[in-house]
Amino acid sequence: MSSERENHREDIAGRANVEDTPELLAYYNELDSLDAGALWTVANKIEPWQPKSSSEAVLWRYKDLREHVLRSVDLVTPEKAGRRVIYLNNPGRRDVSAAVGWLYSGLQVMNPGERASAHAHSASALRFIMEGTGAYTIVDGHKMTLGRNDFVLTPNGTWHEHAVEESGTPCIWQDGLDIPLVNCLEANFYVVHPDLTQPATFPVDDMSHAWGAPGLQPIDNAWSQGYSPLLKYEWGPTYEALLRYSKSTDGSPYDGVMMRYINPRTGGPVMQTIGASMQLLRPGERTKAHRHTGSYLYQCAKGEGYSIIDGKRFNWGERDIFCLPAWTFHEHGNASNSEDACLFCFNDLPVMTALGLYREEAYGDNGGHQPQ
Ligand SMILES: [Fe+2]
Ligand SMILES: [Fe+2]
Repeated sequence: MSSERENHREDIAGRANVEDTPELLAYYNELDSLDAGALWTVANKIEPWQPKSSSEAVLWRYKDLREHVLRSVDLVTPEKAGRRVIYLNNPGRRDVSAAVGWLYSGLQVMNPGERASAHAHSASALRFIMEGTGAYTIVDGHKMTLGRNDFVLTPNGTWHEHAVEESGTPCIWQDGLDIPLVNCLEANFYVVHPDLTQPATFPVDDMSHAWGAPGLQPIDNAWSQGYSPLLKYEWGPTYEALLRYSKSTDGSPYDGVMMRYINPRTGGPVMQTIGASMQLLRPGERTKAHRHTGSYLYQCAKGEGYSIIDGKRFNWGERDIFCLPAWTFHEHGNASNSEDACLFCFNDLPVMTALGLYREEAYGDNGGHQPQ
């Protein structure tokens, strides 16, 4: 037993470096029996010098996943599955079913006429529409029609359900949730709606009509929830905003022309635990490398390009999804010299900033580019 006992020693001043002796090993066993332990045997492990993500950088190619996602339609019904989703399972995070860090993601598919039962949960959720027509989501009575590249919130605690109109086509969207985080915090509740569905009690797309105008708020703007009243962010105005911004900025050296989706009531993130952004890489643009805390999931919404993550190149095209583990150097490039490329991203930045844990660092060598 003694040879297998953990003892993470480092021969550096200020770090734990206690050698095992027969007397200490016996002492550690006595502590074990009291459900206690000597910190110096594990201190170097539980307090690393810097974040060390257990997540791997992964690229999920849509062309590889799409047929499997569509196949699930023939294999299970939404009624039986609850939610018919193929989830993204990071090799380093399988124990918590996370796509990266404490974030979950999956691809949900629904055929015309299908409906998933209404429910609510403590986890915050979003969807990013990948393909199909006729999809809609109802959040607390607000029905929203959904189109390609639209970004939709289903915040924590809200009743929500998804469906596709009879006149629609098979629809696929990316789900993003903080399920692993909420489970880590042991705060996750889940409720199925007693009627399995909810009425749309407001005019269709009412929140987009009230809150979707740039720089304007409705006069009746009472809203005290911790998430954005603008529950849907449409692709058209988002892309137009990026194009307009690109006329008057050089962009970030690390992200090109990037804008955050915000809560128009506060200017803060769209939900308390999940933030999101859309960035545009101009034709031929290649960013410099940096790293930061937080976990990030990207989906290419337009164009094609590549990201170099921890020295490894990932080529992406439309609908491909990739993850960026915490504190990992990364840089992005647009593979086209004539078309722009857009990356949607959601992340746990609101958690990082709220807890005072956000930190970033530029890659200083080699002109800001990682060797490959
Ligand atoms: Fe849900
Ligand atoms: Fe970054």
